[in-house]
Amino acid sequence: MQDVQVLMEYRYRGVRRTRTISRSEQRMTQPNAADGLFTNSSGRRYRLPDLLEDMRRTHSCCELDAKDIGKEVVLMGWVLRRRDHGGVIFVDLRDREGITQVVFNPQVDEAVHAKAHVIRNEYVLAVRGKVDPRPDGMINPNLKTGEIEVLVTELKILNSAITPAFLIEDDIDVSENIRLKFRHLDLRRPQMQRNLVLRHRATAAVRNYLNHQGFLDLETPMLTKSTPEGARDYLVPSRVNPGQFYALPQSPQIFKQLFMISGFDRYYQIVRCFRDEDLRADRQPEFTQIDIEMSFVGEEDVMNLAEGMMTTLFQDVLNLDIKPPFTRLTYAEAVGRFGLDKPDTRFDLELIDISDIVGGSGFKVFANAVKKGGIVKALNAKGCLNFSRKEIDDLTDFVAVYRAKGMAWVKVKDNDWQSPITKFFTDDEKRALAERIQMEPNDLVFFVADQPKVVNESLGNLRNHLAGKLNLIDENEYNFLWVTRFPMFEYDETEKRCQALHHPFTSPLEEDLAKLKDDPLAVQSRAYDLVLNGFEIGGGSIRIHQRDVQQKIFEALGMDRASYESKFGFLLSALDAGAPPHGGIAIGFDRLVMLLCGEASIRDVIAFPKTQKAACLLTGAPSDTSKEQLEELHLRLRPGIES
Ligand code: AMO
Ligand code: AMP
Repeated sequence: MQDVQVLMEYRYRGVRRTRTISRSEQRMTQPNAADGLFTNSSGRRYRLPDLLEDMRRTHSCCELDAKDIGKEVVLMGWVLRRRDHGGVIFVDLRDREGITQVVFNPQVDEAVHAKAHVIRNEYVLAVRGKVDPRPDGMINPNLKTGEIEVLVTELKILNSAITPAFLIEDDIDVSENIRLKFRHLDLRRPQMQRNLVLRHRATAAVRNYLNHQGFLDLETPMLTKSTPEGARDYLVPSRVNPGQFYALPQSPQIFKQLFMISGFDRYYQIVRCFRDEDLRADRQPEFTQIDIEMSFVGEEDVMNLAEGMMTTLFQDVLNLDIKPPFTRLTYAEAVGRFGLDKPDTRFDLELIDISDIVGGSGFKVFANAVKKGGIVKALNAKGCLNFSRKEIDDLTDFVAVYRAKGMAWVKVKDNDWQSPITKFFTDDEKRALAERIQMEPNDLVFFVADQPKVVNESLGNLRNHLAGKLNLIDENEYNFLWVTRFPMFEYDETEKRCQALHHPFTSPLEEDLAKLKDDPLAVQSRAYDLVLNGFEIGGGSIRIHQRDVQQKIFEALGMDRASYESKFGFLLSALDAGAPPHGGIAIGFDRLVMLLCGEASIRDVIAFPKTQKAACLLTGAPSDTSKEQLEELHLRLRPGIES
């Protein structure tokens, strides 16, 4: 028999549409108006199963307490653990909010108790029951719901679960790779739930603050042109433009500047950025920025705004008062005193330059370093006289990672120096050193001589390392710091040319403009970094808003006109179209949340992070692709690389 065709009306994305379907298809896709039943292909009528039927959740697993005693409630959640005590079965039922103890007692309901025997860890349950006070002595003061339990009268097992790869609790002893592979389980652990909830609250606080300050949340493209921030790009092949590629944004830098040129005045976006670089505990290939840009502003305006945002954030999320204005250090001062441009100033242990004292000394290692334009710096580990030879050797290995070729040391025993290098110094030099370094009995002083970059990086990192070893850090302190007046460029030894220290759209300091051509490394920029407890959590600058200055910077970076016109012609022409003075900042949101959560890795505050090798162990990305897909994208793999 031929099926009758009928016109079906339906909604797709809110738009009413029509389609011709057969009568039998109509019965299968639409319930009968009279009884709500569907009809299957062989004509049987059925109801769509509703597992929950009349059970609707009344409370979360962290809600009930003594005032609810006697109420009938319905709870749903996962089985954290099940205990069978002489016929009575206790289950800790868990949801995102917390835990409630539910009890299956044969004296309350025999059938339900019998059914509860099959329950295992991580089963998904719906239970109905009565809130009962816990017996004396069974009250758990550590649990919000510790005064009560629920005597179950109805149980629905909504789903079973295989034995989980690890227990769903904090302080588990499993490798991070296992946690990442079973991330859906790992994210059930209270610590991970806390972290992601805190992350949500931080997002909400930031949005709230910026919305009230007149900022607009505007989106920027993900498939775009390269936005240089010093890393490699992730490229995306274009199917419809053979041989051409988009780059995923390293940041929305150029677009947010274009928003200023278009007159939007104040922009923000909590946005994903992509950088193909070597990964570390505080670096991911895709990460999130709180990205901000403002028109008609100078450094102070952006810094005040960021300080206000941090104050609100810490108040809202941690209920903690932090006190702006934050300390400001110039780049030169930060590197001079602490060796690094992101110093941890929760402790002293500053580096001391002794090049002038030892430059002419009889110790050739020091004298030669100074002669070759290098420096010699000291770090006084107060009271560390008792460090063993092995400990000192380990610390020497530690600085070798930062390319220090050696590390000299002096122990101050009473008023005598114990050191292999004592013999090289005159009494005057020793006196001058003791005074400059404030050497006292029981001190252990370390010295590195080399080019400034090597000396500062090795002793700066040694300083952080020693602070940990010597317990000098108060973990409850949040120490914010601005670092300003960065050099505009740094010299790239491998490429033998200048690179932008921040990005090439950073404004140079007006008074240094004249040095651009002949002495670019002496040009300072209007960039600033925000540092928290030794982590760079944000960076920004006042931007270039004149075409001619922007061109000069491109030229200083070794680009010729053809090259910068092809890469950044659109920006240059926008700068010509009436660009207001503008500036901004981007906060590394993952790093910030990591510090708010007290975690040591940003992977613990990102739901689905990647490993050191940029892999997602959960999904198996990146993965091979088919020949057909490569063909479609006009790509061919190099011989030897199989797909
Ligand atoms: P910058 O490159 O300094 O500036 O980035 C801003 C902040 O983002 C964080 N960050 C990262 N976090 C995790 N993983 C990474 N791979 C990673 N890379 C950077 C850092 C950093 O301080 N467009 C400019 C900002 C501006 O000038 O307004 C920019 O992206 O905390
Ligand atoms: P050497 O002359 O190489 O045996 O070194 C004598 C001492 O100087 C040893 O304690 C070395 O660790 C130390 N030393 C060597 N190179 C450096 C350097 N670049 N900076 C500081 N100390 C160094």
